[in-house]
Amino acid sequence: MDGTLQLPATSPSDTDALIADALAGLTQPEKSLSPKWLYDHRGSALFEQITTLPEYYPTRTEAGILRDNAAALAALVPQGGALVELGSGASVKTRTVLDAGAHFGAYVPIDISRDFLFETSDDLRLRYPTLDILPVVADFTRPVDLPTSLEQTAKVAFFPGSTIGNLVPERAQALLAGVRAWTDTRAFILGVDLVKDTRDLVAAYDDAQGVTATFITNILERLNREAGADFDLDAFAYRASWDPDLARIDMHLVSRRAQSVSLGGQVVAFAAGEPIHISAARKYTADSLATMAAQAGWSVATRFTDGQERFAVAVLTPDPAA
Ligand code: SAH
Ligand code: AVI
Repeated sequence: MDGTLQLPATSPSDTDALIADALAGLTQPEKSLSPKWLYDHRGSALFEQITTLPEYYPTRTEAGILRDNAAALAALVPQGGALVELGSGASVKTRTVLDAGAHFGAYVPIDISRDFLFETSDDLRLRYPTLDILPVVADFTRPVDLPTSLEQTAKVAFFPGSTIGNLVPERAQALLAGVRAWTDTRAFILGVDLVKDTRDLVAAYDDAQGVTATFITNILERLNREAGADFDLDAFAYRASWDPDLARIDMHLVSRRAQSVSLGGQVVAFAAGEPIHISAARKYTADSLATMAAQAGWSVATRFTDGQERFAVAVLTPDPAA
């Protein structure tokens, strides 16, 4: 079955939302852009390149944990149930779980990067011809409408990659609570990156080849391409830094000089050295993970890690008291 939701192609309202959101962030005293705008088709492809970099340990570490525990994770989905993935991207690691899940009825990849999601779904239909692949284009920082056909279907949510760490704590908690409210959701498989040596963390976000810098700068290129902005890309430098108090990597683009940029009919002024905050990647401990889960009505039932405790894949179950 082709379960692709019929959605219009990129519409003027998508561009309006991009411009309005960007202007809201760039007119604050501390300038910022939402990381969700990193992921157009080019951004998704650049992220896939990041996952293969020697410095970017999270993907291969999590892939190993998923491989080692695929049978246990797949067994969380009852016969005919659905695996529902948030921020599915290229769904590469997911294939390890799908390979162990011959009993799954459906796989629902949810992503904001529309064309990339549909290309990935087409590829998955070839790989898993008997599985219903039901892609949903959605922003997971808002309530997500799942296919109505799944209302009575048992579901397991899957949010790998430590993408939850890209959300501010209130948004992460709202997402966890939102999934808790889905009908018949049996478990939540959550991948989180763990606090570790600062040098390893910073290197993972500031690779020698500069792929991460290109990925982050793509947000300005996207504003130029889609919103008619006139950012001079060479006039911004990428910077990654570790904030020990918030346990997160911060990714900024720093204006190399005083300059003005036009966007959506407005002019945005930058001082020399002024940063734009683009993304944060929070890192967790066993305690901070358990606290975050509990605040949203989940308990940590199992925590699978690699031998070096670099990354964790947690199985959360609904806390009956919540
Ligand atoms: N799960 C994959 C991809 C992680 S990259 C992995 O672990 O390798 C993060 C993914 O989340 C991207 O595919 C991006 O398009 C998607 N994403 C980011 N912000 C989003 C949002 N607000 N709503 C939906 N998807 C989002
Ligand atoms: C998708 N997300 C978990 C990545 C991360 O590690 O925060 C995004 C990323 N940004 C820069 N490098 C990778």
